[in-house]
Amino acid sequence: MAGIASVPAGSLGLSTHMKLPNGIEYDQPLGLFINNEFVPGKEGKAFEVHSPSTGDLVTLVHEGTEVDVDIAVDAASRAFDDGPWSRLAPAERGVLLNKLADLFERDLSILSSIEALDNGKAIQLARGDIAGCIGCIRYYAGWADKIHGKVVDTGSETFTYTKQEPIGVCGQIIPWNFPLLMFAWKIGPALSCGNTVVMKTAEQTPLGALYVCKLIKEAGFPPGVLNVVSGFGRIAGDALSRHMKVKKIAFTGSTLVGRTIMKNAAESNLKKVTLELGGKSPNIVFDDVDIDRAVEWINFGIYYNGGEVCSAGSRVYVQESIYDKVIAAFKKRANQNVVGDPFDENTFQGAQVSKVQYERILNYIDIGKKEGATVEAGGERHGEKGYFIKPTILGNVTEKMRVMQEEIFGPVCTIAKFKDIDDVVAKGNGTNYGLAAAIHTKNLNTAIEVSNRLKAGTVWVNCYNSFHSALPFGGYGESGIGRELGKEALRNYTQVKTVNINLA
Ligand code: NAI
Ligand code: MG
Repeated sequence: MAGIASVPAGSLGLSTHMKLPNGIEYDQPLGLFINNEFVPGKEGKAFEVHSPSTGDLVTLVHEGTEVDVDIAVDAASRAFDDGPWSRLAPAERGVLLNKLADLFERDLSILSSIEALDNGKAIQLARGDIAGCIGCIRYYAGWADKIHGKVVDTGSETFTYTKQEPIGVCGQIIPWNFPLLMFAWKIGPALSCGNTVVMKTAEQTPLGALYVCKLIKEAGFPPGVLNVVSGFGRIAGDALSRHMKVKKIAFTGSTLVGRTIMKNAAESNLKKVTLELGGKSPNIVFDDVDIDRAVEWINFGIYYNGGEVCSAGSRVYVQESIYDKVIAAFKKRANQNVVGDPFDENTFQGAQVSKVQYERILNYIDIGKKEGATVEAGGERHGEKGYFIKPTILGNVTEKMRVMQEEIFGPVCTIAKFKDIDDVVAKGNGTNYGLAAAIHTKNLNTAIEVSNRLKAGTVWVNCYNSFHSALPFGGYGESGIGRELGKEALRNYTQVKTVNINLA
């Protein structure tokens, strides 16, 4: 990634004392976390961590490369095959996960502050992320001793049963938009099922996961169960997805890289693959709604987390008879969002994660204008420094425009009219993605018919971006393979063994 430089680690230590703008002080680990120890990378490299809200350098962290991935995978492999983890009763894994959740609760203000610093997201949203982590880890703590197979009656001459066994070393590659929440969504089911993990965090946001590694150790997880390698996708991520001892790879990020991961898995050991990729989700408003309530959800659907959300409601469709009223109310609402300093308690929308992402978003606004879209709100940077973009609405759009087909991943949505159910279902399903969709209506029949016809992994009705640990999340089409969260995610992290005993 062009924006982040790899530099010699030199005399970089394994920890640094941090003082955050909101007064929080803590010790930030900087090493890779392997076998429950923080260590420097073997090649002596490090990379820069910037604050997206100021553009300033925060610290360096040690960089992991192929050789470190190898060491981490070996540690995870040993922990899986013959460490204390492999002998732990399932309920004990649940106890450890619950302890980890307790530690997230204890350190909630530190963890949410790290997210605000590292990702640039508003502190009020960062607290929500950490609450989501706690909910997810507790949810999977509860599953640990409830994962079991069946006895199958195949006749009197055999005794047959199935077992749900863990897969082994799981490689997990996560993005920067929800650094800790994605970490929790990944480790929760993996550890609950008895696997071990090598995690590669996103190079834009390595800090939170390293802090959590301290908590992993404090909670009492045995060495090697969870390893974290900070590093670049094309180096550490590539090595992980090609590794012969990694039996499963889970990835969240761009569709482009998702394809590479799948190819790497195919070319190496056919490791199992789950992918949670991009989206271009329709947010549909029928003419029977309470306009103010619907506009609240449209606003939240696109501007939550600065639009850096895979499920963002980035294509707004409004039934033609109320279009003028909705766009007027939405423009007003978009302009009221408080954009700025992530550490200000009133901020709703913080900075975009990086200079690269910020420029990508502004470039899309430009592309939209050149394609003939009108800027109904925003359309430009916010403030003097840092990577802030005003909440943006693009009108006068048509289905084939790039801004209607491609994921922008920022605070930019399009708004267009539709006639009736058939029209909006065709438009809603008119991209290669299929992650999420939403319908706003008071009519139950409309809600159910349109939900049935939309090709999306999640359909929200009269709400948006409403997640729950118990509810599966993932994509149709090019939005991904497999589901995270819920009981569904346990399938990603177990394999079935059939035992067939001849009694004759
Ligand atoms: P990305 O897909 O490159 O990054 C996500 C993760 O994949 C990071 O940890 C990265 O280091 C890793 N990665 C990158 N190349 C890799 C490779 N060859 N092998 C293994 N791992 C690799 O996403 P990027 O470039 O940061 O953002 C580009 C676009 O991707 C965004 O504008 C957005 O559209 C989409 N995206 C979607 C996300 C989602 O939640 N579904 C999250 C982040 C980005
Ligand atoms: Mg990339």
